[in-house]
Amino acid sequence: MKVLVIGSGAREHAIITSLMADDSVSEVVAAPGNAGIAREVDTRPVDVTDPVAVADLAVDVAAELVVIGPEVPLVAGVADAVRDRGIACFGPSAEAAQLEGSKAFAKQVMAEAGVPTAMAHVCTGIDEVESALDQFGPPYVVKDDGLAAGKGVVVTSDRAEAVAHARAILSKGYGVQTVIEEYLDGEEVSLFAITDGTTVLPLQPAQDFKRAGEGDTGPNTGGMGAYSPLPWAPPTLTADVTERVLQPMVDVMRHRGTPFAGLLYAGLAMTSRGVRVIEFNARFGDPETQVVLANLRSPLGRVLMAAATGHLADVPPLVWQSGYSVTVVIAAEGYPTSPRTGDVISGLERAAEEVNVDIFHAGTTITDEGAIASSGGRVLSITAHGETLARAREHAYAAVDLIRLEGSHHRRDIAARAATEG
Ligand code: AMP
Ligand code: GLY
Repeated sequence: MKVLVIGSGAREHAIITSLMADDSVSEVVAAPGNAGIAREVDTRPVDVTDPVAVADLAVDVAAELVVIGPEVPLVAGVADAVRDRGIACFGPSAEAAQLEGSKAFAKQVMAEAGVPTAMAHVCTGIDEVESALDQFGPPYVVKDDGLAAGKGVVVTSDRAEAVAHARAILSKGYGVQTVIEEYLDGEEVSLFAITDGTTVLPLQPAQDFKRAGEGDTGPNTGGMGAYSPLPWAPPTLTADVTERVLQPMVDVMRHRGTPFAGLLYAGLAMTSRGVRVIEFNARFGDPETQVVLANLRSPLGRVLMAAATGHLADVPPLVWQSGYSVTVVIAAEGYPTSPRTGDVISGLERAAEEVNVDIFHAGTTITDEGAIASSGGRVLSITAHGETLARAREHAYAAVDLIRLEGSHHRRDIAARAATEG
């Protein structure tokens, strides 16, 4: 089958790499892709937020399956437009993608499904915000209801900062909402499930590192690294979360008449009182996908096609290779505030020769001279596998150390703590 992958990040590069390893996939086209993706498959320019443009492209390249990576096109209805042309699409409808597109909506569905999550107040005015903050007390959690490209959430013990963030959200326009939540402590886990709207197929759990600095300091980012699976997690975690969180959400969405088919991402906190949902996303996570797919041995194309066409129940149990994967993100100078772009990257060939290493590109482009240069904040996602987490880390950092990008930064402590257990 011929697959069109929409997006341009390391997540999409990892998805494409897995698709190409599936013998049922004859060809992959990516739009718009990046420099790394363009070295492996045909790429086409497209405005990923334009449903008609993406659907036209799917017809044009004779795609039999379209896989949508990022959330913005999903919320914009790109999956609906593709399906309207009679082409199978892995990605939820615009209505179902509201699980990510509106935190207030997600809270409502969680309440209907009986899914454990943080107590929350949806507020439209600053007085409501202040009384919700005082009800929960510090640390304060203030969220933008809508998509905010990773900048929507502030967690702080500084009440004035919490109020200021709420004020900034509410000032964006009429009808805008902010969600004030109870603080959840404990380790965070990302658990992805592939679903056709009825059957739920969980993947291995992962953990990502959101802060820019080592020791989880500094500003929030799109993610500076990840590892999977989690040596410290209870062996029943995936089954428990599937039964108590993922399946009930999928069932409620179907009963509401807005089935969720695609990738349901549960962001979880392992609190002292049990597992709680922090958020849902309607797509594969980045950078967790790089490590989750690195361990998956089942043919990804077949599984995504089965999910897109309502046949997931027929898919055999997923097969995972033993061991662990780690990914380290190389970010541009100034990321996440104001990333510097246009710097040439060197050492990629040598790094790719390191054992068990995959180099996934994110913000990269090809210069007029044919060199690979940075074009975004998160530039590369260096992914490695090992029988232990410690070995996977060694391989990943050996490759990271061969790559040169002026001013770039990365964290040296990805999976370091967990490696002492796995
Ligand atoms: P979100 O965009 O909802 O994933 O939030 C981004 C990050 O903010 C999460 O990964 C958590 O680290 C943090 N966060 C969100 N909600 C809470 C909460 N209720 N308690 C503690 N931390 C939170
Ligand atoms: N890794 C966080 C996300 O994909 O939203």
